[in-house]
Amino acid sequence: MRCHKAILLGLVGLLPALRAGAGITAVPLPDPHVAGYQFPESESTILTWVREMGTQGPDAAPAFTNVNLHGWGLWTALTLPTSQVDQGERLRVFETWYTPQEIDALPVPGSAAAAALPAAAQRQRAPIQSFVQFEHGLEPRDQLLMAQAQGSETVFGYVKFDPTAAAHVMQQQLLSASVLNELLVGGAQQIPVFPATSLTLKSAFQIITASTLVDGRYYRLNAWTGPPSTPQAWAPAQWPGVVWIDIQDGGSGSGQVDLGASTDGTSRTDQTTYPVSSMINHRITPLEAAQFNAGQPGSAVAAGDYAVLVAMHVAGREITRWTWQTFWWTPTPDNPQLPSSQAIAGLRPAQLTGAARNYGMALAYDMTMPGQPNVGGQNAGAAIYTYNPYLEARFGPANLPDSLAGTNPSGQPASNNVGVACNCMSCHIRANFNPSNLATAPRYSGARYTDLDDPQFAGTLQVDLLWSLPEIAN
Ligand code: HEC
Repeated sequence: MRCHKAILLGLVGLLPALRAGAGITAVPLPDPHVAGYQFPESESTILTWVREMGTQGPDAAPAFTNVNLHGWGLWTALTLPTSQVDQGERLRVFETWYTPQEIDALPVPGSAAAAALPAAAQRQRAPIQSFVQFEHGLEPRDQLLMAQAQGSETVFGYVKFDPTAAAHVMQQQLLSASVLNELLVGGAQQIPVFPATSLTLKSAFQIITASTLVDGRYYRLNAWTGPPSTPQAWAPAQWPGVVWIDIQDGGSGSGQVDLGASTDGTSRTDQTTYPVSSMINHRITPLEAAQFNAGQPGSAVAAGDYAVLVAMHVAGREITRWTWQTFWWTPTPDNPQLPSSQAIAGLRPAQLTGAARNYGMALAYDMTMPGQPNVGGQNAGAAIYTYNPYLEARFGPANLPDSLAGTNPSGQPASNNVGVACNCMSCHIRANFNPSNLATAPRYSGARYTDLDDPQFAGTLQVDLLWSLPEIAN
């Protein structure tokens, strides 16, 4: 155990260029002192919770509490403020972490270039980018899927790795396509797996530009009012509800949503208006504005505009198939819509305060209930649906080509081939590096079981469930 820790600290030390200097310093996940939560939790403990939930016996309720407390503990910890300030604004823990693009730009550890790196490397806030940006790393068939999934509403944000996950990527050069190739050619079934302390996240921000405001202060934000009665692609523009976000921080909103809202703001009331401070937000810096406008020609983002966090995915390597938790801003944080619930919201710890408390959470610590083993299981049991309204709900069957019919969470037959019938683990367990462009390689799917030894992986390299690695590797 001690040895393990020493190795980890040693790896983190590989990132001196990012740690030194006057720029942002990545901080490890702090302890939020939430009773019943610790990180990293042992694999056996988490697997026991998951199994107990699946039995639906007397241990199921305490296990549900433990699992959800774990998710909330992670969220509390990674949204805590740090002592660092950028452009006058205090940074939260996750804001200090590394994007894969940032890691990719660093020289190979131990190389002369790494040794020559100036200590004063200035880290700035990570640019908010279009996920379309990742497309050029994709195989042609997947580029199409991404384009279809994004449609007219592009998602902007970034993927991030905590310092220990970033160190592993660096040390093993997991964003190098030639390194991934060497592993594959050398006979590896998968990349060297991440340490248990690894966390990765994917965020989605809405940037509120001046030209999108009504009366110079109100922004019309699509608000999640739950999944459609018939499972189908359900993109934000199709949602019936809207809330108005006031950048001057007014509004008495406490759960009300403007249904069938006007675009000119005439339907807005004080009850459907929410202060911008009710969301995790920051003001766009001059550098961020420049980077964003360069990346998306025609956009007019200005320094000082608000970026509000609408969604965040978080995955942790405490268990082999990772823990998956997702968060989205909701006007009803005490009673959020599916795939969250009042019971989940009721477990928010007292340490979770301010804007971060206004997010709904859903977890996928397994694919089905009861669960199936990592190897040798089958697509049986009730599916667990876990998706983020702002990220996956838009997916239709064409985006999820490897979906497999099964049952819904109530155990009724279901095609499970749309975003609102997705499970994080089900899609991520299929992640692979496929340099030969094999048509048989696993692709995206809705909620289903996948065996870690599935013959579909033949000829590909498994990437410890992280799709961003093969997508960004170059
Ligand atoms: C249909 C497939 C699919 C589903 C479902 C899905 N993801 Fe992902 N996820 C991806 C892809 C592809 C990426 C790579 C980044 C990108 O291009 O968006 C990714 C990136 C991520 C990352 C960044 C690290 C990485 O590379 O894996 C996290 C964390 C993540 N997803 C968490 C989740 C969570 C939590 C859920 C469930 C609420 C979820 N994902 C559902 C496909 C999926």
